[in-house]
Amino acid sequence: MKVEGKHIRSIWLGPDGWTVSAIDQRRLPHDFVVAQLTTCESAADAIRSMLVRGAPLIGATAAYGMALAMRADSSNAALDHAYKMLIATRPTAINLRWALDQMRSMLRPLPPPERTVAAYSRAAEIAEEDIAINRAIGQHGLKLIEAITAAKKPGERVNVLTHCNAGWLATVDWGTATAPIYLAHDLGRAVHVWVDETRPRNQGASLTAWELGHHGVPHTVIPDNTGGHLMQHGLVDLVIVGTDRVTANGDVCNKIGTYLKALAAHDNGVPFYVALPSPTIDFSVDDGVREIPIEQRAADEVTTMTGRTADGRIETVRIVPEGSPVANYGFDVTPARLVAGLITERGVLRADRAALSAAFPERIAAAAE
Ligand code: MRU
Repeated sequence: MKVEGKHIRSIWLGPDGWTVSAIDQRRLPHDFVVAQLTTCESAADAIRSMLVRGAPLIGATAAYGMALAMRADSSNAALDHAYKMLIATRPTAINLRWALDQMRSMLRPLPPPERTVAAYSRAAEIAEEDIAINRAIGQHGLKLIEAITAAKKPGERVNVLTHCNAGWLATVDWGTATAPIYLAHDLGRAVHVWVDETRPRNQGASLTAWELGHHGVPHTVIPDNTGGHLMQHGLVDLVIVGTDRVTANGDVCNKIGTYLKALAAHDNGVPFYVALPSPTIDFSVDDGVREIPIEQRAADEVTTMTGRTADGRIETVRIVPEGSPVANYGFDVTPARLVAGLITERGVLRADRAALSAAFPERIAAAAE
């Protein structure tokens, strides 16, 4: 999508044809910095430290991490080592495992001298597929926005609430939850986004607001606790969130706080949709609450906040008393029964096993192998 009027992606190959460039998301919204990843270790560190984040982008970065590993050493031992290092970076987003499995199963049968070229080529394909998938998600989700537009009075805007950052920064381009919004906006539909700030790392306030603002999409940042109030007063037409993993039964794991939004939406009759690319579906898991590992992150994400001071310095300040213990669960699970529909590249599906298996039969077959 656009930054300063220019089209940009979240990850791309540098002019030398092998260095991987990625926007350093830890520096947004205050500084736009592009990081250069030159080794598998630097790709792993970028995922672990959240220089890159968001399930689809984590997958694409891991794929390029495998390519960087093969460039340094294309032996079987190096392949296994790179897989182990990258898979250990973050536990919840399933796109990481999906991308690494794709890379390993393609590379393993090849003679080592052929692996580097093949790895770069498959990583580039994974990135391009992500863009195409998200565009298709946008087209299916657009119909939901257009149906609401049609029921409104002329000039009234459609209000979408979103949580965390499931925008183009979380993917290679377009985003998942934001793809229908960007398409609607580009087509001149009146759409406005309520952006949950998304404590503790503030991916909504710092990333979603930044990218919507740069693309010119009207939006308002709200504290995380505000959504229920807005819904009670008819100020939210639909919720669209992204996800880090969807189970075979349609349970949705997403950034912590998503479940509370789904409960509020259910209580107020507001449709709660989840946008996802098919690599986010984990057909090996049924019960999201019991089976998905929930990442627990460092306490300092809760005890401190970082921002720009009036004189332009970036400072981190403590907001919790010294000595108070904190808990920092990164994700929660919204049961399928609270989900109005899953917006995928193959259409808007019911959140259940029958609909997911019918739409993605090849994934069922692969999970059974
Ligand atoms: O911890 P993060 O920032 O990597 O969180 C993942 C996410 O970006 C969100 O949960 C998002 O809604 C799903 S990924 C498109």
